[in-house]
Amino acid sequence: LPPPGGPGDPAGQALPVESRPFASYGSALHINLPQAPRAGQLLTLLIDYEAGEGPGVCWLSPEQTAGKQKPYMYTQGQAVLNRSFFPCFDTPSVKFTYSATVKVPEGFTAVMSATSWEKQKDNTFVFKMSQPIPSYLIALVVGDIVSADVGPRSRVWAEPCLIEAAKKEYDGVIEEFLVVGEKLFGPYVWGRYDILFMPPSFPFGGMENPCLTFVTPCLLAGDRSLVDVIIHEISHSWFGNLVTNATWGEFWLNEGFTMYAQRRISTEVYGLPYTCLEAATGRALLRQHMDATGEDHPLNKLRVVIEPGGQRVSEGFSFFLGVNPDDTYNETPYEKGYCFVSYLAHLVGNQSKFDAFLQAYVNRFKFQSITADDTLGFFLEYFPELKEKGVDSIPGFEFDRWLNTPGWPPYLPDLSPGQQLMRPADELAELWAADGLNMEAIEAVDITGWRTYQLVYFLDRVLQKSPLPEGNVKRLSKMYPKISTSQNAELRLRWCQIVLKNNLEAEYSKVKDFLHSQGKQKYTLPLYRAMWGGSEATRALAMETFSATAPQLHVNVQNYVKKILGLGGAE
Ligand code: BES
Ligand code: ZN
Repeated sequence: LPPPGGPGDPAGQALPVESRPFASYGSALHINLPQAPRAGQLLTLLIDYEAGEGPGVCWLSPEQTAGKQKPYMYTQGQAVLNRSFFPCFDTPSVKFTYSATVKVPEGFTAVMSATSWEKQKDNTFVFKMSQPIPSYLIALVVGDIVSADVGPRSRVWAEPCLIEAAKKEYDGVIEEFLVVGEKLFGPYVWGRYDILFMPPSFPFGGMENPCLTFVTPCLLAGDRSLVDVIIHEISHSWFGNLVTNATWGEFWLNEGFTMYAQRRISTEVYGLPYTCLEAATGRALLRQHMDATGEDHPLNKLRVVIEPGGQRVSEGFSFFLGVNPDDTYNETPYEKGYCFVSYLAHLVGNQSKFDAFLQAYVNRFKFQSITADDTLGFFLEYFPELKEKGVDSIPGFEFDRWLNTPGWPPYLPDLSPGQQLMRPADELAELWAADGLNMEAIEAVDITGWRTYQLVYFLDRVLQKSPLPEGNVKRLSKMYPKISTSQNAELRLRWCQIVLKNNLEAEYSKVKDFLHSQGKQKYTLPLYRAMWGGSEATRALAMETFSATAPQLHVNVQNYVKKILGLGGAE
């Protein structure tokens, strides 16, 4: 049968359409209906279109994959890129179900963020998402990919050459996170929770596409040390994917609550000391971000003004114009948002009461898109005794100030339970920053048993104290090959930052190698900023590295780097 309402449907009729300018990327499709629809009337529109070279659909050559044999395509919708994938109301305030039929060439597999998946003849895949979701959560991958089970409702997907490593990394560990999440926040409504390891140029650590999280292959550290990213994406199953920010100006509702949920799950599974250590590395990132942008930068508010339609204006950081939604991807919604949610928990003063609130919050707003006013209104309604006390207007901690004033969070959760893990790292960083190195004291510290996040914390402290006195970093590098030659991406990022800040020319090639090996935005931009802010030699290194790697970077990341290097991109 021809699709209803389409050209082959006798009841259907062709309608006049018009494309009007909308934003720097994408245009508005105006469809003239023969008569104004009645409220509640069901309309079926059949739109015949072709997706071209938009930023939401990424076409990779074989060289850009891990296996280097076959091409690959993926889509990345968040924040406002899916408008180049299919015609839609590309705003998180509108939710809908979807289905898709995808025919791909022999030797390729298609997967989507969908609750059901069926392979039919002719290499045709049929997908259905039975829960309403916003447009940015629709995602598609077509590639030479295979899967392996890692739990009762979870499998990993990867290119054949990575599947063994992928299975080994997360075999048997995913289910516990889901079970703890369900215990804390209520039912997991998405059926399966699968993980897809993306090609190295994937610009994010993880992307919470429902039923099928996309992750960077950098997570394949061999020791599960970067599993916090998985816990984070699982946490979006409640915060973000069930309860969704209605506008990108309140992105912190997605990410701040998710950071809080992630650390609640982590606390249950790995304990409070380890979780506080991880949170301390998050706080260090917020410090670096605010130092780099200036605390008063308008993006350092939880509620930011978005340019209508997601417009990229000439000066994204202007005080007078709104910002592009993609520019809200910085540490403030994550870590300042985490502090605000922690502050709400602190006001309640009892963890299980606050956990119960979070579960009630999810239940109240599931499948909806909301604003911070809805969240905070519900909080005060749920705790009438707090409302009575006027907790929303305690001087210095007003909810309004949290939302609308840029700057360092007025409240920081107590991370001292992590002291047992942080103190040795603090002390060691202190020793390495000294003028005459006390090698006896340094050699007395055995870091062989330290966990990755302790090393990350240590390197962040060293970076903060850098440049160190002449010669210290060179010695540090020799002393700890476990750090300076690590293949763990979080350690590589910090080591490269230290190399650059200390002008350790002998190791500049490590920066280049790291940037050639992957294209994650949060690794790429800080390194280009450091190179550009450094010497003539590091500027040359930046130019050389960018001209070699630009074609393999996501177009958004390319543009941010161009902006940093003064090449006229947009940051
Ligand atoms: N949803 C984000 C990634 C994202 C944000 C994509 C904005 C596009 C626009 C994802 O959940 C995320 O936050 N990933 C983090 C993980 C980290 C906080 C553990 C990342 O990629 O670094
Ligand atoms: Zn997130």
